[in-house]
Amino acid sequence: MGEGEPFEPMRLLYIMDPVESILPDKDTTFAFLQGAQRRGHENFHAELAGVYVGKGEVRARARRIFVADSAPFVTLENTFQDLSVAEMGAVLIRKDPPFDQAYLHTTLLLERARGKTLLVNDPRGLRDANEKLYALHFPEFIPRTMVSANREHLLGFTAEVGGKAVIKPLDGAGGYGVLALSTGDQNARAIVDMLTHEGRQLAIVQEYLPAVREGDKRVLLLDGEVLGAILRIPRPDDLRSNIHVGGDVAPAELTKAELAMVEAMAPRLKADGLVFVGLDVIGERLTEVNVTSPTGIQQLARFTGSRPEEKVIAWIEAHARR
Ligand SMILES: Nc1ncnc2c1ncn2[C@@H]1O[C@H](COP(=O)(O)OP(=O)(O)O)[C@@H](O)[C@H]1O
Ligand SMILES: [Mg+2]
Repeated sequence: MGEGEPFEPMRLLYIMDPVESILPDKDTTFAFLQGAQRRGHENFHAELAGVYVGKGEVRARARRIFVADSAPFVTLENTFQDLSVAEMGAVLIRKDPPFDQAYLHTTLLLERARGKTLLVNDPRGLRDANEKLYALHFPEFIPRTMVSANREHLLGFTAEVGGKAVIKPLDGAGGYGVLALSTGDQNARAIVDMLTHEGRQLAIVQEYLPAVREGDKRVLLLDGEVLGAILRIPRPDDLRSNIHVGGDVAPAELTKAELAMVEAMAPRLKADGLVFVGLDVIGERLTEVNVTSPTGIQQLARFTGSRPEEKVIAWIEAHARR
């Protein structure tokens, strides 16, 4: 799969951030645009605010988008088109987190297109799957975890797991707000207060996984199956492995235990319409399930000398309604 001729050219709508923020050498969405263009499809770009309901249906103010291997890499047509979302071959929802109110509302509008076009990932799945909390559906694979807004809970848990934990906001991404929490540290109470907004917002704490020093594995899944994996290795002076904050990238394979974990997770991911997903795995423990706009496909392509993005587009071709 991946290199064959498409069955029929489609119009694909990408709901994403403004094009100025695209990193052509890093972004997975850029790779999808390239893969789709190579396979003869027409790509359209819309921002969240460009999706609306009118004329009794969900529509998008969108522009043709073209990508290239060299500068300027991305070109948008000048004129906007007013598109019926239901008439698109497929919609790729690729807006970066946070999953905020505007994001939520757009997923609700997209419900009007359910059953009429292919929505990747499923907007209901996106609403349902908080990237930090979704892992709780798979308790056998996660590190010891607590979710609470209560300072005593969070500090008590940290002591209970041996005095070392990691605390994170529930709506963060790219390593933002992820902090080490140590029993007895003079900053511990302040850190908890900051992340819980003084007890008013939930935070997640996990036991500290020492294996993070070897790396945080990003496992990319396509419809519950492994597309490939890369390892992100934190800088020596940082807890966080995210590429966005300076993590190094290396090739990776899945261990037997990780393959079994993916197999156990697949039915739920499929049922939730979470087609393109990035698991974060540290020391064979599932720490996060990325669903809004997981990345890593370009690095995977480089390490494997393959075109995993074309597999995603081929999957969309095979599952789109015509
Ligand atoms: N339980 C943990 N133990 C050790 N390090 C962790 C743990 N959880 C997260 N980290 C570190 O923090 C980084 C970001 O955490 P993650 O949960 O993936 O949130 P984000 O959405 O910001 O990527 C990880 O790549 C890893 O380096
Ligand atoms: Mg992560």
